Amino acid sequence: MVSTLPSLPHVPGTDPSSCILDAFRTAIAKRISDRLPQLTIEQAYSGVDYGKKGVDFTVALPRFRLPGKPDELAKKVLEDFQPDDFISSITHDKQFLHFQLNNASLIREVLNQIHALTYDSPSGKPSYGINTSGAGKKIVIEFSSPNIAKSFHVGHLRSTIIGAFLVNLYRACGWDVTALNYLGDWGTQFGMIASGFEKYGSQEALSKDAIKHLYDVYVSVTKDAEADPNVKVEAAKWFKRMEDGEESALGNWREWRELSIKKYIEEYERLNVSFDRYTGESEVGKEWMDKAVQRLDELGLISDVKGAKLVDLEKWKLNKAVLRKADGTSIYLTRDIAGAIERWQKYQFDKMIYVVASQQDLHLAQFFQILKLMEFPWADRLEHVNYGMVLGMSTRKGTAVFLDQIIKEAASVMHEQMKRNEEKYNSIENPEYVSQEVGITGIKIQDMAAKRINNYTFNWDRMLSFEGDTGPYLQYAHVRLTSMERKNPELLPLPPPSQIDTSSLAESTHARDIATLLGSYPDVVKTALKTHEPSGVVTFAFRLAHAISSAWETLVVKGELDMEKARARLWLYLCARDVLGAAMRLLSIRPLERM
Ligand code: ARG
Repeated sequence: MVSTLPSLPHVPGTDPSSCILDAFRTAIAKRISDRLPQLTIEQAYSGVDYGKKGVDFTVALPRFRLPGKPDELAKKVLEDFQPDDFISSITHDKQFLHFQLNNASLIREVLNQIHALTYDSPSGKPSYGINTSGAGKKIVIEFSSPNIAKSFHVGHLRSTIIGAFLVNLYRACGWDVTALNYLGDWGTQFGMIASGFEKYGSQEALSKDAIKHLYDVYVSVTKDAEADPNVKVEAAKWFKRMEDGEESALGNWREWRELSIKKYIEEYERLNVSFDRYTGESEVGKEWMDKAVQRLDELGLISDVKGAKLVDLEKWKLNKAVLRKADGTSIYLTRDIAGAIERWQKYQFDKMIYVVASQQDLHLAQFFQILKLMEFPWADRLEHVNYGMVLGMSTRKGTAVFLDQIIKEAASVMHEQMKRNEEKYNSIENPEYVSQEVGITGIKIQDMAAKRINNYTFNWDRMLSFEGDTGPYLQYAHVRLTSMERKNPELLPLPPPSQIDTSSLAESTHARDIATLLGSYPDVVKTALKTHEPSGVVTFAFRLAHAISSAWETLVVKGELDMEKARARLWLYLCARDVLGAAMRLLSIRPLERM
């Protein structure tokens, strides 16, 4: 790493070689602990926060709980201050100290670091923004988990989008991640379909689109069941045979499952999402389901209601729940309990995350509590990442029930939108591909723009507009940055930023704003890991896109006669492109190069 900054003491938990702002924060902490010797540099460091508007970093003095008034403490820190390579000024306002960084060295170091970690990364892969905090740790992330033969609703889409983000995020932080899809591939509905398949099933329709056909069969049998109670009885019998492992009852089901997974893999691929393993409720074994009931019985928490087993969790304000039906078949909750135990045996994870809608808060809390009651020492490693509802998701033809309908609708709405600008449309090489990618970006950004727990209303027009904070706007910003090299061939090949004079950038507040944002990206990633909120990354991407769009007019590359200046500016834009692209990829979006 080509840092020309003076050396500093090392503060544990910081890593200036991957996050240059750590060096600047350390310099501030050093100044404080040198002047207030009661504080170690580490203690001082923990008090260095991002400042509000226009201020780089702020320290609230009272948090150190030192004897003496804030004014006196501030005076000691300020005394004889001389601007240096890190800090250009310190100001004092009541109990706060505000620090401005040295613009020239900030910009230079940020560009050098991004360049080095993008084009000269020790791992060979672009690695700016990533860290190794999770090295040696294992995580299982379960997400998406749709139900075979039922609809893939927006709740599943949210789980897919948020889950894919978490997988990327944990990998970016060095964790060994296993991405699991836990299919709803078991339960009485398969008895329904099995009995209905004899009447409504078609092998041809099945091989064309298994997901759709099984859904259609399910809808038809469900209608029959409304008129004839016998249908349900038959279905329950069928499912019982499946649970008992009768091969004659399982053959069809196995094929349905396989064909559905095949189709899902294709659709997830379009969303830029993949799984390490497809598992499902069907794979959960009987052993631990029985043991769980037995153990809870020993604890005096089970009661028998007409042959069904009920667990009483009132003591933990988690109601009562059925664990086993009277005919002995298992249910969703019991499968989750045993499933978690089996996953522990298989993966020995340090953490396991379930990305499931907040409608299932109670269900998750129940099985987490049951695992604690069973005294599994790893029970506290489970975490539920929940999210609110999506309202009004429909296509122009009506309610969407399948993932591919949602993707197609996004692509076609986007396609129409693009056609409105004929000239531009004609210049696009592959409008089908571009409209699908931009459409998917629109959906993802809308979904991740606010805190997970918020509900939001699905709105095609708003999410697919090029104006405002939308997916298309972000793609457009990335495309424009990508075109910079193409448009300025006379500046190429560009020497690395460390070999050019970037000091001219320090005079521009626009350049300065962009560099500060770029420098904060590694912090954005770390914060997201703590909060599990993609919205922080989305906000960052928009702030960066806005900062760039305000810079275009004054910070020109084309037409700048001073080559050194033009090169420095080009580097700033190229670094912005790389970091914006990295943030988009973290959000599972494929950044476009042309559109
Ligand atoms: N298949 C379930 C549903 O569609 C979601 C599964 C969530 N994961 C779990 N381990 N319970 O509602």
